Amino acid sequence: EKGGYATFMEKEIFDQPHAVGDTLLGRTDETGRLVLDELRISEEQLGNVDRITVVACGTAAYAGMVAKYAIEHWTRIPVEVALAHEFRYSDPIVNERSLVVSISQSGETMDTLMAVKHARELGALTISVCNTHGSTIPRESDAVLYTHAGPEIAVASTKAFLAQITACYVLGLYLAQLRGGAFADDAQAVMKELHEVPAKIEDLLGTMDRVREIARFMADTRSVLFLGRNVGFPVAMEGALKLKELAYIHAEGFAAGELKHGPIALIEPGLPVFVVVPGPDSPHDLHKKVVSNIQEIRARGARTIVIAQEGDEDVVPFADEVIRVPQTSPLLQPLLTVVPLQVFALHLSTAKGLDVDQPRNLAKSVTVE
Ligand code: BG6
Repeated sequence: EKGGYATFMEKEIFDQPHAVGDTLLGRTDETGRLVLDELRISEEQLGNVDRITVVACGTAAYAGMVAKYAIEHWTRIPVEVALAHEFRYSDPIVNERSLVVSISQSGETMDTLMAVKHARELGALTISVCNTHGSTIPRESDAVLYTHAGPEIAVASTKAFLAQITACYVLGLYLAQLRGGAFADDAQAVMKELHEVPAKIEDLLGTMDRVREIARFMADTRSVLFLGRNVGFPVAMEGALKLKELAYIHAEGFAAGELKHGPIALIEPGLPVFVVVPGPDSPHDLHKKVVSNIQEIRARGARTIVIAQEGDEDVVPFADEVIRVPQTSPLLQPLLTVVPLQVFALHLSTAKGLDVDQPRNLAKSVTVE
């Protein structure tokens, strides 16, 4: 059932082109318009939404952070991301005009379920992004947008994460389409590009030998940092989370802009730092800014492992290692940039002789608060 792979996690990482492709399947008509009849929420009701709150835990919350950047850009609707357990026991500003989107692979995470119930009590419209048919959270929500990643067996999430990001993109683009005009035109163009991503993930997965080698050399590493910006920021945090979960290594993800406000003090000779570099076409000169971050940490002796787009030569002088990802537009990059980080954590865990599929102290779904 592992399909020739040594672990479920490896199989699931290699399943990711399908997880993304299947989550896109059937969600556009022949003209390329998004069709989400399955939501069974009227366009009027969705059109009424003036604020979105995403609630989730763990990896799913990082998918929510990616969604925030994308949905705000595409729709101009404010999006907030809250850890479900924090949302539930705060005093959230949520009302009849709010859309609360929960994200959960299992659909059974108690913290997320409690947040959804609370949101409904407050009058919000609730949509569940979920991978498990008939599970509790979709049943307790007004609507569900299923991710079609297939069953995820390994405790640490990989393909469900990519599917969650994809479903959130679909939802955001659908909301953009409802807004009409230029919003709708842009949505169609992005959707077209999104359909090209599964093949790019497939290509990327064919180039992971060097990542495996780097992981093997690093079996004794005690601490690893991850830097990213914009949508690369949640990717950095997810890279760090994977390493904690799978290899029991102290790891932290930072927003690259925050470096000079504290984390740079951690940089010492030999410290491995992964940097998720925005594509050269990213807005606001983000690419240049991150390249200068790499330069700064390299000057302090960090060992820089850089995730950069094919053709990006600016990173080369400051990178100890360059891991290439295929080109795509800036907001879609997480579907590619996170893959080498997953592969790295998988092989580091293996190199340490650990149980990749069943890491210590963790459960696949946590059904207590
Ligand atoms: C944690 C899992 O307990 O729950 C993570 O170890 C997962 O992998 C998180 O991301 C949320 O789970 P779910 O099922 O709600 O997506």
